[in-house]
Amino acid sequence: MVHSPEHTEAAKVYRRLLSYVVPYWKIFILSVIGMAVFGSTDAAFAAIMKTITGAGFVDKDPQTIRWIPFMIIGLFIVRVIAGFFSNYGMSWIARNVIKTLRAKMFDQLLRLPVTYFETSSSGIILSKLMYDVEQVAAASSQAITILIRDTVTIIALMGWMFYISWSLTLIFLILAPILAVGIVFVSKRFRTLAKRIQSSMGNISHVSEEAIDGQRVIKIFGGQDYESRQFAVVNEYNRRQNMKIAATTAISTPLVQLIVAIAFAVIVYLATMPGLREIIGVDTFVSFMMAMLMLMQPIRRLTSVNALLQQGIAASQSVFDFVDMPQELDVEGREISGVKGNIVFDHVNFAYSQSNTRVLDDVNLEIKAGESVAFVGRSGAGKTTLVSLIPRFYELSEGKVTLDGVDIRDIKLGSLRSHIALVSQHVTLFNDTIAHNIAYGSLDTATDEDVLRAARSAHAMEFIEQMPDGIKTQVGEDGVLLSGGQRQRLAIARAILKNAPILILDEATSALDNESERYIQQALDELMKGRTTLVIAHRLSTIERVDKIVVMDKGKIVEHGSHQELLAKDAMYAKLYKMQFQDNNQ
Ligand SMILES: Nc1ncnc2c1ncn2[C@@H]1O[C@H](COP(=O)(O)OP(=O)(O)O)[C@@H](O)[C@H]1O
Ligand SMILES: [Mg+2]
Repeated sequence: MVHSPEHTEAAKVYRRLLSYVVPYWKIFILSVIGMAVFGSTDAAFAAIMKTITGAGFVDKDPQTIRWIPFMIIGLFIVRVIAGFFSNYGMSWIARNVIKTLRAKMFDQLLRLPVTYFETSSSGIILSKLMYDVEQVAAASSQAITILIRDTVTIIALMGWMFYISWSLTLIFLILAPILAVGIVFVSKRFRTLAKRIQSSMGNISHVSEEAIDGQRVIKIFGGQDYESRQFAVVNEYNRRQNMKIAATTAISTPLVQLIVAIAFAVIVYLATMPGLREIIGVDTFVSFMMAMLMLMQPIRRLTSVNALLQQGIAASQSVFDFVDMPQELDVEGREISGVKGNIVFDHVNFAYSQSNTRVLDDVNLEIKAGESVAFVGRSGAGKTTLVSLIPRFYELSEGKVTLDGVDIRDIKLGSLRSHIALVSQHVTLFNDTIAHNIAYGSLDTATDEDVLRAARSAHAMEFIEQMPDGIKTQVGEDGVLLSGGQRQRLAIARAILKNAPILILDEATSALDNESERYIQQALDELMKGRTTLVIAHRLSTIERVDKIVVMDKGKIVEHGSHQELLAKDAMYAKLYKMQFQDNNQ
């Protein structure tokens, strides 16, 4: 057979998948022995049939005939034991491979860059973790079982047939290449279809997920029809691809059977011709026909195993592609300690990978250790993007950012991020207690007193005390049981507890009412002391006390200075400030 690139690709995927089976080689060998024994029992049965016919009906040999029932029972006991070991062993290996692959994928999930999640749908990622990995199992257990067991069955049966009548077997073999051609043709088709079904499962979960997350918007804007239509499209696509697989299976299986049946008919015809009838004994003929009939099942299964194999390859491909995605760049970074917090942006240009437009345009800025700097500017000016570069959520296009004189690309990611506390507009809460949400991640070693103190400083105790279980209250999935302001206070408590030298507040108080904001502002003012702080705030009244205000517009820093200086300058900041001042007095 010609080795097409597609072929070598599939072989590579299979070899890689097999490398996951290697640790379980003992069980694998045990299963393979089970399959081989199981596969040989069919031929043994055909042999017993020859004895039954020969000794029982032709020679009428009572001595031999008495042993036959025991032989049959013995044979099937062997079959049961072998079948159990092969199936159980393969499942055992498959479940372990799935577990290993899933763990690897989840690990990868935690280490992929922010950009990956912005460019791929979470439904599709989930479907890889849920569906594709299961498909791999089908390949690694069912397919291998069928492949080995049925191949042994066929070889054993053919061997027996050849042994008792080589002439009839040769006739049978002439028809074999026709079978082979059919199988090769069908296999290509299966692989294409299996890939399409995978992606369509991703689409189904993607659309469903949007409908689940966006249910409030759907309800209020009457989006049901739109969502239904979108779902109908992916649903129908999935059905159609599955039907194509069904059609291929439905045609290929009976076709193979037809070819076998023709072979069967031809042999019956030849064997019953007057000349041959005398040469071939009754017992041989019965046993031969029996063996041929028993060949049908394994041949049929072997042709359908292709569907499984191709699905498995397509699924493994998708899993391996995911595992091979480049992770966040974290090469040879060094650990940092005793961070003072001097941050310098040096000719920084940045564009999001999806578009070419510059979101940050030649930004130069020094933030001295312990200084508090506020960023203001219209929405879309690039403020969030700018502060996101410090924990390296994105890699710079040009220029560099340094921390205490060290390029942040030379610092180990984990070490860099452990020195930064970030409170952003969108607060993420985990389905856990309030206490665990405040002491999240590496903060989980914090004492109860520390957690309570942080909660108190963030003015979160007021509402926590109202809750049924206080700080031990479960917040529900993504904290659905809390209001926006309450969520933000928990996020602030989290940042207070982290006690990092660099603090980033990106509209951290936007969901709070004026009164709570004033309270928290005091807590934040306290928190900001002695730390390098970057604040983004919509309400300019909250940032009058910072050391420096940086005004941004269209990715550029247009002016900077103290509140008084900028007002005196009477440019963009003064304009923004006056606008808000008027609004507040209306
Ligand atoms: N993840 C992203 N992918 C692509 N473009 C983005 C992303 N986040 C923001 N942008 C774009 O970058 C620009 C600056 O956004 P942002 O930094 O969020 O502004 P600000 O925080 O000042 O409102 C906007 O034009 C926005 O559309
Ligand atoms: Mg923003």
